[in-house]
Amino acid sequence: MLITLEDVLTPAELAQARVLLDRSTWASGRITAGPQAAVAKHNRQLPEDAEHLPTLRHLVLQALQRNALFITAALPLKVLPPFFNRYDEEASHYDWHADNAMRQAPGGGHVRADVSATLFLSEPEEYDGGELTIEDTFGSHGIKLRAGGMVLYPASSIHRVTPVTRGRRTACFMFIQSMVRDPGQRRLLFDLDMALLELRAQLGETGPVVRLTGVYHNLLRRWADS
Ligand code: NI
Repeated sequence: MLITLEDVLTPAELAQARVLLDRSTWASGRITAGPQAAVAKHNRQLPEDAEHLPTLRHLVLQALQRNALFITAALPLKVLPPFFNRYDEEASHYDWHADNAMRQAPGGGHVRADVSATLFLSEPEEYDGGELTIEDTFGSHGIKLRAGGMVLYPASSIHRVTPVTRGRRTACFMFIQSMVRDPGQRRLLFDLDMALLELRAQLGETGPVVRLTGVYHNLLRRWADS
């Protein structure tokens, strides 16, 4: 399931992030890639010791915390600190790959990557190519969002970023352990929650709306780990 969220960052946050990213020194994207991904990965990434990385991470995580749609779509249990990457004509693409299932958490232990997220920080007209292409059971989807928009997709999917042939594409990406591990169950809960939101707006808290809300929570209780 792919879910896109618009305007995850406010225009002011987006502008601030872009200034900080332009002032940063970028490293090879291979710093966080496993052996298979390292062969496929041809981009740049902000290194862990980058001066502005803590500010950038805080800015993105804060934006996610206030985003109700992100929370209902991802049902986040643990969110790993976001990474920032850049593609241009010299370091232009990331071939088909799978993301690692388990990632080290900064404070020790591991986080299981259930949901991958890409937050676009460049406008589509600033570059050619650079489509995030994701394979799912319905085929392959090319995604290019407005700056400030985010796509969520199952971390289990095979995906790539097609070569950037003009300009520069800057993005933020991150991995989330969801309370609901199974992508099909997450999708059902998301669809139910979205339908309930509409029903509640149309009808108010009628008896059936209250009972269906109970069904949502009982499914979540059945499927969630904590
Ligand atoms: Ni990836």
